[in-house]
Amino acid sequence: MNILLVYAHPNPCSFNRAILEVLDGALRERGHATCIHDLYHMQFRATLDGEDLARNWRGDLADDTRAEQDAVRWAQGLVFIYPVWWFGPPAILKGWIDRIFTRKFAFDFGPSGMRGLLTHERALVINTLGGDEATYQREGWQELLVRPIAEGILGACGVRQVVYRAFYQVPTVSPVERQAMLAKVRELAATF
Ligand SMILES: Cc1cc2nc3c(=O)[nH]c(=O)nc-3n(C[C@H](O)[C@H](O)[C@H](O)COP(=O)(O)O)c2cc1C
Repeated sequence: MNILLVYAHPNPCSFNRAILEVLDGALRERGHATCIHDLYHMQFRATLDGEDLARNWRGDLADDTRAEQDAVRWAQGLVFIYPVWWFGPPAILKGWIDRIFTRKFAFDFGPSGMRGLLTHERALVINTLGGDEATYQREGWQELLVRPIAEGILGACGVRQVVYRAFYQVPTVSPVERQAMLAKVRELAATF
């Protein structure tokens, strides 16, 4: 399968980077073709501005929007890897979604409301967090993280199956626990 990995972390030594490298390697080992879009490295322009909106309405999309949409079209599977920042993705990834998942590309409105236009079989979302799992479970916060990306964005745009995986307390866990997390990442590749 062709898999596009959309990655949003500014630090090349981050744990997110380790996740990216492990997952990419494991997917390739399994025969998938992968393509990494490292949004900070690309210096992706993340603000959907008035000119973008006007161009989208005219169907005259910006060059970088077209290029990213080509990458999304190339893929049958999508992967998003990012840290949770204030209960959501880093702004650069939110902006990528704003600017790439345009109407008539990712969704459209019809008589019965919004319908998804993406045809991807699967998406995988991997998050890292500073908080602990027990608190997120007790407070019902996991749902606040999962539903916007899995349902509000990917599901609404037509992606059939979204797998979500979170790794908690990343800044404070031991190196051994980090290795165990990376082993789980390898398992995710096996089931993609
Ligand atoms: C701007 C900012 C906002 C953050 N917001 C949250 C948050 O809402 N919930 C949480 O559990 N951790 C939060 N964190 C902690 C990060 O999620 C955590 O440090 C990161 O996932 C660790 O992965 P890394 O080492 O690859 O950066 C935040 C960190 C930053 C820098």
